[in-house]
This record gives sequence, C-alpha cells and structure tokens, in this order.
Amino acid sequence: MSIFRDDILAGRVALVTGGGSGICKGITEKLMAHGCKAAIVSRTQEKLDAAAAELQEKTGGECLAVAADVREPAAVEAAIDATLERFGRLDIVVNGAAGNFLAPAAGLSAKGYRTVMDIDAVGTYTVCRAAFDKALKANGGQIINISATLHYTGVPFQTHAGAAKAAIDAMTRHLAVEWGPLGIRVNCIAPGPIDDTEGMTRLMPKGMRDKMEKSVPLQRFGRSDEIGDAAVFLASDAASYITGSVLVVDGGAWMAGGMQLMHGA
Ligand code: HXC
Ligand code: NAP
Repeated sequence: MSIFRDDILAGRVALVTGGGSGICKGITEKLMAHGCKAAIVSRTQEKLDAAAAELQEKTGGECLAVAADVREPAAVEAAIDATLERFGRLDIVVNGAAGNFLAPAAGLSAKGYRTVMDIDAVGTYTVCRAAFDKALKANGGQIINISATLHYTGVPFQTHAGAAKAAIDAMTRHLAVEWGPLGIRVNCIAPGPIDDTEGMTRLMPKGMRDKMEKSVPLQRFGRSDEIGDAAVFLASDAASYITGSVLVVDGGAWMAGGMQLMHGA
C-alpha cells in the first residue's frame, strides 16, 4: 500500500529518461502505480522493452519503451513525438539518464569529462527543451531532474560527475524562474547512496559497505522506491507551490561525510 492516494497522478503522462533501470525504473513504477502512463527512454531498446513489460505487469499501467541517446537532439525529439502520439499528452518529465565512473581528475581525459557533461548536463537541457517546445509550454507540467550530493563536499574521483550535477542544480533554478509563469514547475531530487543500483556498483569500493552504511545518520542505504515517493510528491499537487528546489533524499549521508567515505577518503 502506498503512502499516497492511488489516483494522485491519474490521467497524467510521464517521460522518464533512464527509466529502464535502477533508480529511475523505481521512479517510473511509483508514477505508474499512482495513475500515470509512462514512456521510458534510454539507449538500449531490449533493456527498455523488458523494463516496460515488468512495469506494466507490476502496476497494471501502460508503458512505452523508446530508445534514444540524450546526446542526440533529433532522437530526443522523436522520443517525445512517439510519447505524444501514443498517449496524446505529456505532463511530467524526469531526467535521470546519466553516466559515471571513478577517475581521478589528473587521469581524466577531456573526452571523458565531456562525455559525462554531455549525457548528464547537456542531455538534461536537451530533454527539457524538447519537452517544453512540444508540450509543456502549451499545457504546463512538472520537470524533475535527478542530481546527486557529490558536489556538496567535493567527493574525490568525481570531478566530472559532480560538475555535471552542479550544472543540473543550477539549470533547475534557471528553468524554474523562466518557465514558472507558464505553469511549469521545475525541481530536482538529489539521491544519496541507493541500494541495488549501477551507481553504487560502480562507485562503492569493495569492503566499505558496513562502514558506509553506519556513517549514514539514518543507518542504512536508501531504496529506489523511496526516490520514487519523492518524485510522486514533487509531481503531485501536494507540491503545487514548490519550484526550483533541490530535495535531498539521502538519509543525511552527505552531511555526515558518507559520500567522502565512498572512495576511502
Ligand atoms: C577514465 C573513462 C572511464 C574510466 C570511460 N572513460 N570510462 N575515463 N576512467 N573508468 C572515458 C573514455 O576513456 C573516453 O575518453 C570517454 O570516457 C568516453 O568513453 P566511451 O566508453 O566511449 O563513452 P560512452 O560509450 O558514451 O559511455 C558513457 C560512459 C559509460 C559514461 C563512459 O560508462 C556509460 O554509458 N554509463 C551509463 C551507465 C552509468 O554510468 N550508470 C551509473 C550512473 S550513476 P577517451 O579520451 O579515453 O577516448 C551516477 C551516480 C552518481 O551517476 C552518484 C552516486 C553516489
Ligand atoms: P543506472 O541504472 O545506470 O541509470 C542510468 C540510466 O541512464 C540507464 O538506464 C542508462 O540506460 C541511461 N543512459 C545512460 N547514458 C544515456 C544516454 N546517453 N542517453 C540515454 N540514456 C542514457 O544508474 P542509477 O544508479 O540508477 O542512477 C540513476 C540516476 O540517479 C542517475 O542520474 C544518477 O546520477 C543518479 N544518482 C544515483 C545514485 C545511486 O546511488 N545510484 C546516487 C545519486 C544520484 P542505457 O544504458 O540503456 O542508455
């Protein structure tokens, strides 16, 4: 049973980049369980097809799987067109597509840095802009960007990802100011360490799990469904006067240095 009323998002359509795996699959499941139809977008069609089937099975809702690389504006536009064609509207956009790896700043190539900026920061802008042009500027809506807390404390080996997420936080505020008069709310969720995700698999050093979990004030890692609940809240009318906010959902991890521990710092 959900903490929210089941039909809190009834009749709305969401597009979720990165929705085929991890945190954003969890977000999509929650949005669908509360009445949304959803399109999930990432590079890998087979992965998206399997995720869409699982999400439909679990929620009884409708899910469209559309392959697109967020670094290609034409592909992003085509994904939004496909969503509008299938569902007739678009109300909620979640920008979760991201790339990351551990690399010391001194060992990172310009191309490596640019790749992460292109996927996370430029990709988020490309999706926001296409959704704005094709749907949101006419009917309003909600954008939820997915950030992180890496840049609050300068987590080592994450210069590229931290810089990209800082750009996303800033973009959230700029778009909230520019698009607020059109009835578009733009917010951001900054997850902390979330269990069973590619992000944690890539970033958490072996043998550090217990120490890291104990360092989190709430004494555990988070779950994708908890990020999903935050997204349902921000997309719903319960957040009708909230825009330009970054909602940190991390059990208090960053304040207690938990993200620094991630790399043995
Ligand atoms: C140094 C690296 C590297 C590494 C890639 N590069 N991996 N540099 N260390 N481990 C460099 C490459 O050498 C290359 O530069 C450049 O990055 C582009 O690499 P490609 O493999 O050609 O890029 P691409 O195929 O587009 O793949 C993008 C990717 C990949 C980001 C590198 O890992 C990916 O697709 N990831 C998607 C899934 C993912 O990362 N999920 C986790 C999100 S978690 P050169 O100069 O060598 O050619 C997350 C967590 C945040 O964001 C916070 C958690 C707490
Ligand atoms: P994930 O499952 O790897 O999610 C990233 C998604 O982005 C994948 O579904 C991937 O699918 C897609 N993607 C990557 N490059 C893309 C591109 N160029 N175009 C379109 N889609 C692309 O990892 P996750 O850990 O759940 O992370 C989800 C989000 O939460 C990310 O924004 C991440 O930065 C953020 N976050 C995660 C954590 C954590 O603890 N895991 C903490 C803080 C923030 P394809 O490979 O099919 O393209």
